[in-house]
Amino acid sequence: PASTTESGPGHLAVGGVRLAEIADRFGTPVYVLDEAEVRHRCRTYRDAFPDAEVLYAAKAFLCRAMVRWMDEEGLGLDVCSAGELELAVTAGFAPERMVLHGNAKSPRDLETALRLGVGRVVIDSPSEIARLAAAVGPSGSQKVMVRVVPGISAGGHEKIRTGTDGQKFGLSIADGYAQHAIARILDQPQLELTGLHCHLGSQITSVKPYLAAVRRMVGLMARLHEQHGLVLPELDLGGGHGIAYRPGEDALDLTSLARKVRAELADACASAGLPVPRLVIEPGRGIAGPAGIALYRVLSVKHSGETVFVAVDGGMSDNPRPALYGVRYAPRLIGRHSTAASARVTVVGRHCEAGDILAADAELPADVRPGDLLAVPVAGAYHLSMASGYNLVGRPPVVAVRDGLARLLVRRESMEDIRGRDVGL
Ligand code: LLP
Repeated sequence: PASTTESGPGHLAVGGVRLAEIADRFGTPVYVLDEAEVRHRCRTYRDAFPDAEVLYAAKAFLCRAMVRWMDEEGLGLDVCSAGELELAVTAGFAPERMVLHGNAKSPRDLETALRLGVGRVVIDSPSEIARLAAAVGPSGSQKVMVRVVPGISAGGHEKIRTGTDGQKFGLSIADGYAQHAIARILDQPQLELTGLHCHLGSQITSVKPYLAAVRRMVGLMARLHEQHGLVLPELDLGGGHGIAYRPGEDALDLTSLARKVRAELADACASAGLPVPRLVIEPGRGIAGPAGIALYRVLSVKHSGETVFVAVDGGMSDNPRPALYGVRYAPRLIGRHSTAASARVTVVGRHCEAGDILAADAELPADVRPGDLLAVPVAGAYHLSMASGYNLVGRPPVVAVRDGLARLLVRRESMEDIRGRDVGL
C-alpha cells in the first residue's frame, strides 16, 4: 500500500506528510493520494508488460492530476462516459489514447467521443453498430473493438463478475452474438475493427482465468480468420487485477500474469497460425487502490449487545464498497500512541442506515474514543468515484502528498455546491 512510514509514536506519514496533519489542515473525512505510489504502480505495469498498451481504467478514480500522471507515465485511458472523456481532455490528455466503453452509451457519449476523436469505441451491443456508423457518417472512419463474453467466471464478488453469459456486458461467443455483431461491423466501411475485448471481472487474484480468456479469445480470432480472412492487430484483456485490502490478503502477481499471458498468447496464436496481436490491458484498482488512504474522525463510541460501535464522520456515502460487496477493511488508529490492548470493534459511518458499516470486526486499541483519527488504507479505487450525495454530507476532498508536501486536488463539496443545484421552490 501507499508508502507509509511511522513518524513518531502513533504517527503515520505518507509521502513524507503526517496523516494527522492532513486531517487537521483539510478536515475529515479526507482522501489522501500518494503520488509516488500511483506513479510506481504505473511503472510496475509498464515494466511487467513492456509490449502492451496499458490503459488506466478511469472509473476507479479520476481527477485532472491523475490524468496528468497517467500521461507522464505513458499510460492510455479507459473511459466509459462523456464526463470521464471530457475531464481527461481538459487536463490535456490525447483523445486518441483513450478507449470508450459502456453497455449503454448515450447519444452524448458517442457524440463527444467522435467530436473529440477518441481512439477506439468498444462496441457492446448490436444496436450500437448502426448508431455509431450513422454518427460517424459515410465519409468518416472510427476504430472499434468488440466486447466479447468469453464464458469464464472470475472476480471477487458476484456483482463484479462480467466474464459469463447472463450479465449485461458484452456479446456472447457461446450464443454466436459476438460473431454476428462482428460480421455486421465488417459490413460498415466506416468502422475499422482493430481487435477483440473482454473484461472478466474485478478483484481477480489468480492468473488462470486470464489464460483461459486468452485461449477463448484466440479461438474466436481463429474462426474469424477462417470465415472472413480477418487478422486482428489487438487483443484487449481488460482489467480486474486483484489487490490486498488487508494485511495477509492475496493480490494478483503481475509479473507472473505478464509472463504466463505472453506465453499462452504466443502458443495459442502459433497453433492457430495467427500473428500475435498487441496486448491491451486496463487496470484500475491495481493502480489507484493501494495509493489511497481515507481519514476519518471518530464521533462516538458505544456498546450494543456484544458489539462496540465506533462511529466516524464519513461512511457509505464516500465508501459504498462494504455495503455493496461485503469488502473488509483494516482501519488503524493514527495521531496518538495507545498502549491499550487491541479490541474487536465495528467501525460504522454516520449515515441513517444500519447497513452503513465501514469495517466489521476491525482491530483497534480498546481505548479508542471520540476525537481519535482513523486511517483506512487501500482506499484509492472505487471509493470517491462511487461516492453519493446521501444525507447531504458533501463529498470529501482529495489531497495529494509527495516529497513532504500536501496539495489539494479536489475540494470538499460544500453546502453552496449542494444548494446551488437545488434550483426550484
Ligand atoms: N475494464 C473494464 C471494461 C471495466 O469494466 C473495468 C471495471 C476495468 C477495466 C477495471 O477493473 P479493475 O482493474 O479496476 O478491477 N466498483 C467495483 C468494481 C467495478 C469495476 C467495473 N469495471 C469495486 O469497487 O470493486
